Amino acid sequence: NIMTVDDVRLFELPKFIDPRGSLSFAEQNNQIPFEVKRTYWIYDVPGGESRGGHAYKSTDEFIIAISGSFDVTIDDGTRQKKFTLNRSYYGLYVPKGLWRVMDNFSSGSLALEFASTKYDRNDYLEDYGKYQELRNDGKI
Ligand code: TYD
Repeated sequence: NIMTVDDVRLFELPKFIDPRGSLSFAEQNNQIPFEVKRTYWIYDVPGGESRGGHAYKSTDEFIIAISGSFDVTIDDGTRQKKFTLNRSYYGLYVPKGLWRVMDNFSSGSLALEFASTKYDRNDYLEDYGKYQELRNDGKI
């Protein structure tokens, strides 16, 4: 099934606000709508840098700005949609097959990402022209 920017979802995660501090959580196959095989995090991003700039053939992801803020721009070859993650209780679901760029990282921000696959570079599409070709042919 072919995903578009309309399949990307910004979820509000549960939060427990307490005089001792706040707590949020996410469970696989629940708040995170897939089975989690891997997690990774991005930190110490210098001002003005961007991350991503690729699509995955088969990996679904779920992205949380645990600390600070950044933007995630999703592109399906036809349309673009920008999401700003600036709360610890937001989770962005990005299904497979979509081009993504992360930028506008605030200083000290921390991006936590959950993925539905183990790391495999063969799952990456890193050439935007090639990505658009595959989209036009309905192959991704
Ligand atoms: P990269 O995919 O280029 O990061 P981004 O998506 O933010 O542009 O990954 C940077 C490096 O980290 C690259 O050499 C591959 C490695 N890496 C892993 O080994 N395992 C992982 O799960 C990820 C996401 C990256």
